[in-house]
Amino acid sequence: MCGIVGAVAQRDVADILVEGLKRLEYRGYDSAGVAIIDNENQLNRARRLGKVQELADALQAKPIAGGTGIAHTRWATHGAPSEINAHPHMSSETIAVVHNGIIENHEQLRSQLQDLGYHFSSETDTEVIAHLVHHELKSAKSLLAAVQATVKQLEGAYGTVVVDTRDKDRVVVARSGSPLVIGYGVGENFIASDILALLPVTRKFSFLEEGDVAEITRFEVNVFDIDGKPAVREAKESEVCHDVGDKGEYRHYMLKETYEQPTAIRNTLEGRLQGNMLDNQTFGAGADAIFQEIEHVQIIACGTSYHSGMVARYWLEALAGVSCNIEIASEFRYRQSHVPKNALLVTISQSGETADTLAALRLAKEIGYRASLTICNVAGSSLVRESDLAFMTKAGAEIGVASTKAFTTQLVGLLMMTLAIGQHHGMSVEKQNDIAQSLMTLPNKLEEVLALAGSIEELAEDFADKHHALFLGRGDQYPIAMEGALKLKEISYIHAEAYAAGELKHGPLALIDAEMPVIVVAPKNDLIEKLKSNVEEVRARGGLMYVFADASANFSSDDTMKVINVPVCDDLIAPIVYTLPLQLLSYYVAIIKGTDVDQPRNLAKSVTVE
Ligand code: AGP
Repeated sequence: MCGIVGAVAQRDVADILVEGLKRLEYRGYDSAGVAIIDNENQLNRARRLGKVQELADALQAKPIAGGTGIAHTRWATHGAPSEINAHPHMSSETIAVVHNGIIENHEQLRSQLQDLGYHFSSETDTEVIAHLVHHELKSAKSLLAAVQATVKQLEGAYGTVVVDTRDKDRVVVARSGSPLVIGYGVGENFIASDILALLPVTRKFSFLEEGDVAEITRFEVNVFDIDGKPAVREAKESEVCHDVGDKGEYRHYMLKETYEQPTAIRNTLEGRLQGNMLDNQTFGAGADAIFQEIEHVQIIACGTSYHSGMVARYWLEALAGVSCNIEIASEFRYRQSHVPKNALLVTISQSGETADTLAALRLAKEIGYRASLTICNVAGSSLVRESDLAFMTKAGAEIGVASTKAFTTQLVGLLMMTLAIGQHHGMSVEKQNDIAQSLMTLPNKLEEVLALAGSIEELAEDFADKHHALFLGRGDQYPIAMEGALKLKEISYIHAEAYAAGELKHGPLALIDAEMPVIVVAPKNDLIEKLKSNVEEVRARGGLMYVFADASANFSSDDTMKVINVPVCDDLIAPIVYTLPLQLLSYYVAIIKGTDVDQPRNLAKSVTVE
């Protein structure tokens, strides 16, 4: 959730660290800090409450020199957002530590350390790491050994980076549950929680694995595995471009990423579909044998990714004839579930690091799932590394906390997965052709949808004074209504709920009045007449509706209803097409409300803690 950057170099690293933090700010943004060892072997620390820019301004006013440093942008878990709780945390002016994750036994460790005479200056769980390393160094022969001894005492999740003024050209890092990536430079090396932070300084990276501890100097990287044995973590060139952190002509990343969807989907399709045939590398080696054998699919995800999985359930059962369940990762991981015979576990995640989803995958492996597949946007992420099969969405880096292009490319991946599984389960050639052709029309269709932005912006005005909103959909548009509601609440802070429209009369109708806008997702499909009945139920109770429908659905605007005409599209891709107007609606409502669109309050992009 937080962001980490570290560097060991000959040059001053403050600017590199701050630029890295700016690129990671979407992960956590309540406070930020750096600690740098200068040429006199002194640790100099600067921390600020608020955005990274506050820290950058402080460093501009009072620069800190030095070639070894660590930096952090925080999303508070233990201890309120404040300067004293901001990382790095220090022990005795010699040790400085940054940490992502949660140390679950911090209270017990804190009391042990207090008994040993350590004084705590923050409310964080992280500070125990700094004092523990300091304590271990009294007997350990090196910083590496002290960190190895420290992590053995930690319970919970951590990605942590430690520096010591008495060993100034070295950083020691440890990973368990929170990702860390090493960046290789020339005569300088780096560490970060995400490659995005380091793209201005290197393109060569290796990922640490669970339980790894590593020491990094300017010329050397030594990695030790969970058993303390030397380990090789292969370094690879990244294909991600350097300017991914750039908003370009757009006011917000979210808007840029919304407009990038036609391209992101073209990239996700490219080279994978030839006619109705999928390239056999699309889901990785061995996919055909697994797809042939499976009799059931269990999908696991969180948030927006969960909504894409909900759509996939409609597709898999209707088109591929394979039974499918979907569950939120944080529920699945803590209940005893029945494992169907020959079941494929599918995780869906933009980041590939979501703690609950990762824990659910690990559990599924233990309880007997036949195989695992992840639909993911980040190469080298934990979910990709730990799953048997992976489908990489090619959305490109998504910086806005509100997921847009990651969601629609996930849906593309899931429809391709439906095609691939269906090919092994008797799907007709005609149906295969329909899916393939619909997918190929998608990027152009989305360009048409984006042309609606002006009219949606006007519509957004109606929401400026609203406190609640209800989203309705049926069938595979029900999850799209849920995603629309999540987007609206996430970035505009308007309370929004989604219902399967058939559920209205079972409770939510009681909420309907002129103050409760009702957004209806209504493409012309087999359920349109049923949906129209639900629309009438709302109209009869004085509700004000905003209906997204194609012209053939025959809705017309009047006193009770504003109709936004969405281009006609094939039913198969309608969930993807109807997502974009809802993204644009949330965006423009948030603009009117004046919220922080890209970094909404209390949220973080990558949820690496429970
Ligand atoms: C999306 O707008 C949200 N910010 C959030 O629900 C997100 O989808 C969820 O945290 C899951 O993340 P993941 O896809 O990286 O696993």
